Amino acid sequence: MKDVAVIGVGMTQFGELWGKSIKDIFVEAALKAIENANVDHIDSMYVGSMSSGLFVGQEHLGAVMADYLGVSPIPATRVESACASGGIAFRQAYLEVASGASEIVLAGGVEKMTDGADVTEALATAADQEYEVYQGVTFPGLYAMIANAHMYQYKTTREQIAAVAVKNHKNGVNNPNAQFRGEISIDKVLNSTLVADPLRLLDCSPVSDGGAAVILCSMDIAKKFTKNPVRIKASAQASDTIALHSRKSFTTLNSVTAAAQKAYKIAGISPKDVNFAEVHDCFTIAEIVVSEDLGFFEKGCGGSAAEEGLTSLESGKIPINTSGGLKSKGHPVGATGVAQVIECYEQLTGQAGKRQVKNAKIGLTQNMGGSGASCVINILEAL
Ligand code: COA
Repeated sequence: MKDVAVIGVGMTQFGELWGKSIKDIFVEAALKAIENANVDHIDSMYVGSMSSGLFVGQEHLGAVMADYLGVSPIPATRVESACASGGIAFRQAYLEVASGASEIVLAGGVEKMTDGADVTEALATAADQEYEVYQGVTFPGLYAMIANAHMYQYKTTREQIAAVAVKNHKNGVNNPNAQFRGEISIDKVLNSTLVADPLRLLDCSPVSDGGAAVILCSMDIAKKFTKNPVRIKASAQASDTIALHSRKSFTTLNSVTAAAQKAYKIAGISPKDVNFAEVHDCFTIAEIVVSEDLGFFEKGCGGSAAEEGLTSLESGKIPINTSGGLKSKGHPVGATGVAQVIECYEQLTGQAGKRQVKNAKIGLTQNMGGSGASCVINILEAL
């Protein structure tokens, strides 16, 4: 396999983008990435999108976006793995370059969720229709069950779970592309509207529009385009049962542990070598569980770690979601995994401004679909 680098990135504002179509959003992100990478062409492209058919009635997204970006007839492939679509689009682009099949590839992701579709119902198509959705449960409910199990099993408190939202909103203040750029308090989280007990409005990622894109090329040619290529040290993917009730435990996400083990092995590192991580905090409890399953904290200690500030930018044993995470930056589902890579790239090239992690050398992204039935982990390294 060839060594592969990220050489340029671009994203749109995340939020409610009323004046822009899904095509406008993707093309804006892709053009920014192409310009940022200083490339004059791309050989191939991937588009991560969870459910453009249900959200805006448009399928066949690979061809649609290649057409509107003006890059036809290059191969253009849409990738779908629920909320992990973007991270897996990035992995597919990585594999295409690593295999030697193409030299310069664009990995992008996009979602337009605010155009009037029933978002909760559309998102729920990523859960088990027969055994979960038919019974009336949707994603807030599934993650609420995970939260209840974690609280019961490990004595995790409501305040500890709320600490994740407070931290991520604080980080989002310094991200110009974030949907919500305001600080919140523990009290505000605990008194926000109940969505699915014990999760409240401010425990949830929002409904968002947005696009993100990055350019990858083989390391041999990366320095032709930029002084600061970022190396992809590992990319690993795993799956788990679609339904929560089929799992041995609600509080361990097997797709995350399996992908993490593979990724650490490929990279030749352990969790303590990771300087910062962007993880999939679709609901606050998810960040707690994932921070344990990635090996940053002992099982059951993710809540206390968040409360003690071990995941904050300042005190930072392991700063998590310096971008603001899905909670504050927003979660246009197909774009999320690519936007996580963009935060890593900005951190590793010293371009994160007030969000900058000191001495950032190795960053990790963790992006998952549904209640963790699919997961992709990418590890990136500054050169
Ligand atoms: N975090 C912070 N603020 C939020 C928010 C969120 N997640 N969602 C909405 N808001 C704000 C809105 O900006 C609005 O503020 P305003 O009154 O000042 O304008 C207010 O809260 C009400 O917004 P509204 O759009 O009416 O909320 P809603 O009740 O329709 O939706 C949720 C709230 C939590 C149900 C919705 O955001 C949601 O479903 N989130 C989860 C998405 C999801 O499941 N993603 C996939 C994960 S697997």
